[in-house]
Amino acid sequence: MSTPERHGAPVTVTIDGFEITVPKGTSVLRAAAEGGIQIPKLCATDSIEAFGSCRLCVVEIEGKRGTPSSCTTPVAEGMVVRTQTEKVKKIRKGVMELYISDHPLDCLTCSANNDCELQDMAGMVGLRDVRYKPANGNGLANHFTPREASGEANALYIPKDESNPYFTYDPSKCIVCSRCVRACEEVQGTFALTIEGKGFDSRVSPGMGSNDFLSSDCVSCGACVQACPTATLQEKSVDKLGTPERAVVTTCAYCGVGCSFKAE
Ligand code: FES
Repeated sequence: MSTPERHGAPVTVTIDGFEITVPKGTSVLRAAAEGGIQIPKLCATDSIEAFGSCRLCVVEIEGKRGTPSSCTTPVAEGMVVRTQTEKVKKIRKGVMELYISDHPLDCLTCSANNDCELQDMAGMVGLRDVRYKPANGNGLANHFTPREASGEANALYIPKDESNPYFTYDPSKCIVCSRCVRACEEVQGTFALTIEGKGFDSRVSPGMGSNDFLSSDCVSCGACVQACPTATLQEKSVDKLGTPERAVVTTCAYCGVGCSFKAE
């Protein structure tokens, strides 16, 4: 794995008035978490390298201009960080509003309901209202609108991919955080996934030239499914039967990803 190395001299920072000491190389996001301060995040995880794409984890740092992402900013001795200023709260809410404006609002029937980081983060930033319509203007998220229903050629519509025997890929729910792509590369070393397109056109793709996951280089390790913060990549058992009440995760030496054995 290529997460930032944390070693060397301890560094003490002040975050929201609390002094926190962590090893050199720790990100501000992680230092805050270790001090019990939760900063909203979507594209960062503990097991893949920080990417800084979702902009939810922005903070203010004394003596620094702008609002850097805390996941990509390493701590420095004496650094003073504020995670809950009006400025960063407004930015996070605005960012989340854009995400939700292009996401299906089917939470109650979604297989990830109550197990969805997008849902959690929307609540965490206090989002209650979305002012923007999706780019297609018909009240449905872009990837959610069938070509015929939009009344015009909709190059953005990509149907749900159920070709893999173990998981489904539903592009309508993708927020393009790239966690699946990075997990495929950094955790599994397979490089089967990529991001295609730009803006509203951007989407995760199972490799250039592959129409679906089954015909791609995917080895069905599940690293991408585990990394996905929404129901975009979802285990078929969860998609069909719902979230199990109990899950046991084990890690073997074969791939190190961690397999879930689920009891309903
Ligand atoms: Fe830091 Fe996404 S979690 S930019």
